Amino acid sequence: MPNKELLDKEYVLFRDFLEQQCGIVLGENKQYLVKSRLGPLMQRFNVASLSELVSKTLSPFERQLRSAVIDAMTTNETLWFRDSYPYELLKKQIFPELEKTCRTVKIWSAASSSGQEPYSIAMTAMEYQQTRPSAFSLGVHILGTDISNTMLEHCQRAEYDGLALSRGLSPERRTKFFDDSGKGMMRIKEPVRKNVNFRHLNLLDSYALLGKFDIIFCRNVLIYFSADVKAKIIRQFAQSLNPRGYLFLGASESLSSLNQDFEMLRCNPGIIYRKKT
Ligand SMILES: C[S@@+](CC[C@H](N)C(=O)[O-])C[C@H]1O[C@@H](n2cnc3c(N)ncnc32)[C@H](O)[C@@H]1O
Repeated sequence: MPNKELLDKEYVLFRDFLEQQCGIVLGENKQYLVKSRLGPLMQRFNVASLSELVSKTLSPFERQLRSAVIDAMTTNETLWFRDSYPYELLKKQIFPELEKTCRTVKIWSAASSSGQEPYSIAMTAMEYQQTRPSAFSLGVHILGTDISNTMLEHCQRAEYDGLALSRGLSPERRTKFFDDSGKGMMRIKEPVRKNVNFRHLNLLDSYALLGKFDIIFCRNVLIYFSADVKAKIIRQFAQSLNPRGYLFLGASESLSSLNQDFEMLRCNPGIIYRKKT
């Protein structure tokens, strides 16, 4: 029977490691979460106890293990067209504005999880272009990034099971944007996939190499970070946006007083942030 006990001092070391590596703050007494998330890795990495797994994780040479541990500690909950309003706002307000700029539109989904968010954006852009055939002749490029390699592989496969498909997707969109790929799975059609690229990015790192965007979605991830880390990320988003570019946060997240670079727009429903010029 593998030993899943963790001493308090080991827990504290692990908590510090996680915050330093990916920003995720584990509260006091979250040992149970560490046990349940890391337990399954013990067999895979051939270690007899959770203490040993944690102590190996702290070694900078254990790159594969570190990446698997970070994967296991992230929460990847997501769904299609999450909260609806961001996608309504794209169609009603933001795309009509961007259409006038006559250039390639660039959108970044900064914590893309298994791909539902960036692909929902791509589907929304296609639906918009179907009603306005002359819009975005230079294309809409969407970038999805995440810290989890497992999630990025899922995004690239673009294949989803019945449960994932049942969450947020109308029957019309399912028929229009997916092909049956057998065994109860459906794959996103190529015209949607070709507008979306994925790459690994830790939000704690620099975004300078990504270039500038018109819209950034960073939804349902900042809640896991400390106020200082959030503030740094928001500052970097401001640098990564074109003037008057838009930032979408999760429905329960807000900028409050974290940053002076953005103005808040109440859209009823929903709040979005626009970079000041
Ligand atoms: C709850 S999901 C949100 C997915 C999507 N944005 C949504 O709202 O449906 C959070 C995602 O953030 C990613 N994540 C956590 N820490 C990260 C970091 N430091 N850098 C990049 N991505 C991170 C996780 O891997 C996970 O896929």
